[in-house]
Amino acid sequence: MIPCQRSLFSIPNEVVYLNTAYMSPLMNSVVDAISYGAKLKASPWDLTINDFFEDSELVRELFANLVNVSKRNIALVPSASYGLETAAKNLKVGCGRSVVMLENQFPSHVYPWQRLVKEKGGKLIKVKEKQDRNLTELVLELINEQCAIVAVPNVLWTNGLMLDLISISQRCKEVGAALVLDLTQSVGAVNTDLGQIDPDFAVVAAYKWMMSPYSTGYLYVSEKHWDGEPLEGNWISRRDGKNFSNLVNYTDHYEDGAVRFDIGERANFALLPGSIEALRQLHKWDVKKIEKTLRQNNSILSDQLRSLGFIIPSDAERGPHFIGAKLPENSPKDLLKILASNKIYVSERGGVLRITPNVWNNPEDYQKFLTTVAAVL
Ligand SMILES: Cc1ncc(COP(=O)(O)O)c(C=O)c1O
Repeated sequence: MIPCQRSLFSIPNEVVYLNTAYMSPLMNSVVDAISYGAKLKASPWDLTINDFFEDSELVRELFANLVNVSKRNIALVPSASYGLETAAKNLKVGCGRSVVMLENQFPSHVYPWQRLVKEKGGKLIKVKEKQDRNLTELVLELINEQCAIVAVPNVLWTNGLMLDLISISQRCKEVGAALVLDLTQSVGAVNTDLGQIDPDFAVVAAYKWMMSPYSTGYLYVSEKHWDGEPLEGNWISRRDGKNFSNLVNYTDHYEDGAVRFDIGERANFALLPGSIEALRQLHKWDVKKIEKTLRQNNSILSDQLRSLGFIIPSDAERGPHFIGAKLPENSPKDLLKILASNKIYVSERGGVLRITPNVWNNPEDYQKFLTTVAAVL
């Protein structure tokens, strides 16, 4: 178990922040790193060509180690939508073929597939939750030879239901379907071995569980797509990109690996030092230990909420870091507002209260949340 880490953040005593699924606060060390990074561009005469490469490579490596793959598999992207659009650009559907996804999936993981089937043919199949049925099994039942792409998250962003990605990946391989994952709501809090899952593409927007700056993220690209088409005609990821004086000798050749899918101006001087600092701290804590800590705290909190009338998926069905609590019938309509007026922050998605604590929360936070909820029900 990781003891409370609140001292690493600037969270006022009276604030109860249980909303990592919306956006994590930044650690003080990350803010300091960003401020250092922002100042680099105050004196461009001190920037060297290596400054365009070193931090990008370091951040790529730190993220790759977190998910147990090679840094050659990782591209730097600004958002989940950017990474997922890249995946859609490099995969095929067509008449009679399907893209399998979850109902109510996050829009960044829906729009690229809507566009793809509109342009190329095929259809979207949305797996609906069913009472007393395991969500992974429902997905597996729809993966067949007609299925071209399975586009799913690890954890559903509305209610925290979790999929078994290993068995989904195995099924995809059996039928020859591509697997595209949005891991934004799990990586950083749930130990994730992409080497073992072996998807085609997997994206993570890093401003939530990765505790990193907004507009930063990572795209895992399987080796079989390394000769694919990036979204941009980026120059810095081409072979010999370090040779600034030779850039007008245009080339079709990129550096090896997933680097071709990097966003333009990926050497983001201001934000990359923040990403590096956040990743270093995640490694220091160890994601396995973060997961264990959140699993234990959330299991206790879930039982307490159930006794107040909330309906919560069992611990086996939901992400260990994520509580989606269906509101009891007697709940005030403005519960979120009441909580916010008490400086307690959670979110609500479709009648489900999304409670996503993290290592900054202390026992007083949990107590204040529970007593405030109990008092207004
Ligand atoms: C599952 C999921 N994916 C992605 C995102 C963010 O997407 P984007 O980076 O495209 O804004 C969110 C934000 O809430 C999310 O919950």
